[in-house]
Amino acid sequence: MANHVRHLTLSDQFFLEQGSRGASGELSTILNRVTLAGRLIANNVLRAGLEGRLGNTGGVNVQGEEVKKLDEVSNEIFKEVFDRVPVVAGLASEEMDEPHLFEHKDAKYVLLHDPLDGSGNVDVDGSMGTIFSVHRRRDVHAPVGLSDFLRKGSDQVAAGYLLYGPATMFVYTVGGPVHGFTLDRAVGCFFLTHPELRYPSSGGAYSVNEANQAKWPQDVQRMVQCFREGKTQCGARSARYVGALVADFHRTLIQGGVYMYPGESKRPEGKLRLLFEAAPLAFVARHAGGLASDGRGEILDLDAQKLHQRTPLYIGAAQDVAEVVRLLRG
Ligand code: F6P
Ligand code: MN
Repeated sequence: MANHVRHLTLSDQFFLEQGSRGASGELSTILNRVTLAGRLIANNVLRAGLEGRLGNTGGVNVQGEEVKKLDEVSNEIFKEVFDRVPVVAGLASEEMDEPHLFEHKDAKYVLLHDPLDGSGNVDVDGSMGTIFSVHRRRDVHAPVGLSDFLRKGSDQVAAGYLLYGPATMFVYTVGGPVHGFTLDRAVGCFFLTHPELRYPSSGGAYSVNEANQAKWPQDVQRMVQCFREGKTQCGARSARYVGALVADFHRTLIQGGVYMYPGESKRPEGKLRLLFEAAPLAFVARHAGGLASDGRGEILDLDAQKLHQRTPLYIGAAQDVAEVVRLLRG
């Protein structure tokens, strides 16, 4: 990586982008607060084993899934971080049944997030992430409500993720280029290390939980088999699966290929959440030259009917996702 990019911070980037297609004013503040939440979560992830915060709370979330202690901590961090600064009128989260509304109800934006994606990795010291999405409210003069959150992915004004791997990274787009920053822990600052990220036009892996094979419908089984045997128009692909969407997405963005979480015969909607996972990453993918599909149409064109709606997801380099869709059509 060229050395000069290490000395551009996130704030410098916002400043440089002002007046062009960048994040200015309130949107910059929102993104800054997201990175503050990310630094706090990263610190919790780092210290969880030492401070007895591994494992489950014993409860289940709205999806009926076990809640990790760090899921709860991360969700609380987002609430605290956005309580102080009146830039978003409400937060919706994978961990909360209903949106959390703030006192400052006239703020222009709302934020949706998955506070600790891949939290199943917490007990094995594996990578995890945070996914976020920002929407402009439909009408700031009307009371903030569910309809402000139930939106099409293509309407997002900003989206991105934090990756808690060996290094903590922040990757975002405000509808222009996708930029990647790496946290310098000693300085407490994110530096631009990956400007204008684009999917490579070849190479990479296919990424899917193959243990679910028997649960998939025939068309999905056939399609994945083509990837496994290298019988696709993309050529041979290796297989990689971290089991944390952010980590699998990020590898695909850097190295190419495709991430898949298909629907199953008994669960056609799949596992991943449209508003907290699929749509924000689809927004990043589109602005990095990639594609995201539910197997039929683009994720960004889906209308959300429910806050916790799920969708099948095929996301990555445009040619790989197009090949998935072609193979699914038979
Ligand atoms: O948030 C859902 C999630 O943890 C994703 O991060 C991850 O990609 C997926 O579930 C893993 O699911 P499975 O264990 O079924 O492969
Ligand atoms: Mn998740």
